[in-house]
Amino acid sequence: MTERQLAELLKGMSLEEKALQLTQYPAYLSTCVVTGGDTAGDLSLSELRRMGSILNANDGAEIMELRRDKREHGISDPLLVMHDVIHGYRTIAPVPLALACSFNLQLVQDCAEMAATEAKYDGVDVTFSPMADLVRDARWGRVMESAGEDPYLCGEVGKAFIRGYHTGGLACCVKHFAAYGAAESGKEYNTAELSEHTLHEYYLRGYAECLKENPELVMTAFCVLNGVPVTGNRRLTVDILRDEWGFDGVLISDYASVREMICHGYCPDEKLAAYAAIKAKLDIEMSSPCYARYLPVLVKEGKISEDEIDDAVMRVLKLKNRLGLYENPERETNLKKRDEVTLCGRYRALARRAAEESCVLLKNDGVLPLKESASVVFVGPFAAEKEIFGNWGCRGNAEDTVSVKEGVDALLKKSVKTAPGCSHKLKETDESMISEAVQAAAKSEVIVACVGESMWNSGEAHSRTDIRIPKVQRKLINELSKLQKPLVLVVFGGRPQVLTEIEEHADAVLYVWQPGTEGGNAIAGLLYGKVNPSGKTAMSFPRASGQCPVYYNSLNTGRPNTQEANIYSSGYDDLPNTPLYPFGFGLSYTKFEYSDLRLSDEEFGCGGNLMATVRVKNAGAADGQEVVQWYIRDLYASCVRPVKELKGFEKITLKAGEEKIVSFEITEKTLAFRTAEGKERAEAGEFVLYVGGNSRDCLQKKFILNERK
Ligand code: NOJ
Repeated sequence: MTERQLAELLKGMSLEEKALQLTQYPAYLSTCVVTGGDTAGDLSLSELRRMGSILNANDGAEIMELRRDKREHGISDPLLVMHDVIHGYRTIAPVPLALACSFNLQLVQDCAEMAATEAKYDGVDVTFSPMADLVRDARWGRVMESAGEDPYLCGEVGKAFIRGYHTGGLACCVKHFAAYGAAESGKEYNTAELSEHTLHEYYLRGYAECLKENPELVMTAFCVLNGVPVTGNRRLTVDILRDEWGFDGVLISDYASVREMICHGYCPDEKLAAYAAIKAKLDIEMSSPCYARYLPVLVKEGKISEDEIDDAVMRVLKLKNRLGLYENPERETNLKKRDEVTLCGRYRALARRAAEESCVLLKNDGVLPLKESASVVFVGPFAAEKEIFGNWGCRGNAEDTVSVKEGVDALLKKSVKTAPGCSHKLKETDESMISEAVQAAAKSEVIVACVGESMWNSGEAHSRTDIRIPKVQRKLINELSKLQKPLVLVVFGGRPQVLTEIEEHADAVLYVWQPGTEGGNAIAGLLYGKVNPSGKTAMSFPRASGQCPVYYNSLNTGRPNTQEANIYSSGYDDLPNTPLYPFGFGLSYTKFEYSDLRLSDEEFGCGGNLMATVRVKNAGAADGQEVVQWYIRDLYASCVRPVKELKGFEKITLKAGEEKIVSFEITEKTLAFRTAEGKERAEAGEFVLYVGGNSRDCLQKKFILNERK
């Protein structure tokens, strides 16, 4: 449709129709339209039928029904179908935090494309992904949906997701704008309180970067930021998102977050909640009825102009138009093609590679890789578990998922012995199965204990205060360690858990997150050395829950906690400040040596550049992949800068003995930050460049940025 035709369409709509265009309800309510049941919702059947979009339908068949129903009732407006396609549709890739650990942007993009392809054939138009929330507190359950604690990585991973969705044929939505990940004490739906500096320097960067790939939608967050609920926070949504960043796509609320402004104590009733949201240029209200009920009233009362509604509706119509829904309301829905691609060999292979590259080898005293001839027992509640695909596993299911046992059985071509030892329930107290697992372990040469948190204990509404693995599993590990046999821990989790008291019993620790449909095959390949681990953690692993939030890019303070420091330094009496495993950390079965860090000059002027190079050698006996990480520290600035900031990375493949020169360009832009006056610029002075295979162990070199060219 042309712009003119869209304008005509808008002109022909009543106020009520416009308000319904700006309202989105979950498909389970719309399903009642088809089945003729009671909606039990806030809106009438006829209103639901005329809504512009729905979220999270059951499947393609239901979507087709809903579209048919619209047509049969003479409603020509096409239905826009949105869905939480987060890390896969039916073939499930590892959770986004794990994918970020691959530091392989092409892989992330390919996984997103795979998800989009399966979803679009099943009738989906838009996905509520990527999540670009910066996270620092592993107690928060939703860290699994993020790309971790670094703003640069969040932006790069977010953009890779968007590129993949677009090539796969879905529109997408960056969320949760803004600072949802800054929830105080890691508690779900909690308040965020951030200075302008921290907000801009850290939390907003990921979303802003994502906008460069032109996502069609942005979703507001549930939280209150600096005293104002984000869904009605004009400073954020109008001044920053629309005006400063120029976002002219669709801004959608999170689930009922318009109505929740009443509960927050920001708006006394639904009418004023609708008012606050439309004034914040929020286009679609998800799952609450404030717009449908009150936008027309607000216009009639003269509180808002019809133009304000028209602007919002036009953005929705443009999205439908961009998706081609006016020409073809079914778009690419094609259940036959869906069935052809769903879980096809190519997709399974991709999900497997994604899992292989996402797992992080945290410790290895030489027990890994396992020998195929060794007698190994697989114990622990995740040894044969198939629910390992992640809390946002969309239409993924346990039957399609490969467990560790199945993966190892396939690799060894025999059935390996497993014993759960306990359940994986968070609050499990039953220890009665531990002895059976210990007995089984006593008969084998090597023990692999598959432990961690269930996929139902991370994700939305799954914050935890104590992020150690559950108590009964700690007991199991303790008992196993008494056997004095090589002990490998395979740890599942949607967050970096506190491993302090279990890793000391272990000879190796492989952190596998929630690895998706092909998890078991990937883990088997890694354990037996068919694949060399290459994942690097995108979040620091705390030593204790009380260390949260712990992140590498912190400020130095006036009294940094170094070993020589006196007791009056910034730290704790009982633990060091450092995490157990730092950001960017991950081992391999080979060894990478960094040397010859060089800079093209010792200084450069504004407008110029410096080239840095480093030699990376695979000094071990196995071929492998390494993530070369470039960090910078600005030593003195008008706004103090973090001790290190990731500025670039490259994942390289090196055969045993091979070496490569890896280069990195530094420009003024690389060094820029947001000054106290709100200006994005670099300040002349001294900097340190770091390069290494993690954020802690780096080579370094100083350089200077001069005022003049
Ligand atoms: C609530 C979640 O916060 C959001 O991420 C999700 O997209 C919506 N529900 C829709 O399911």
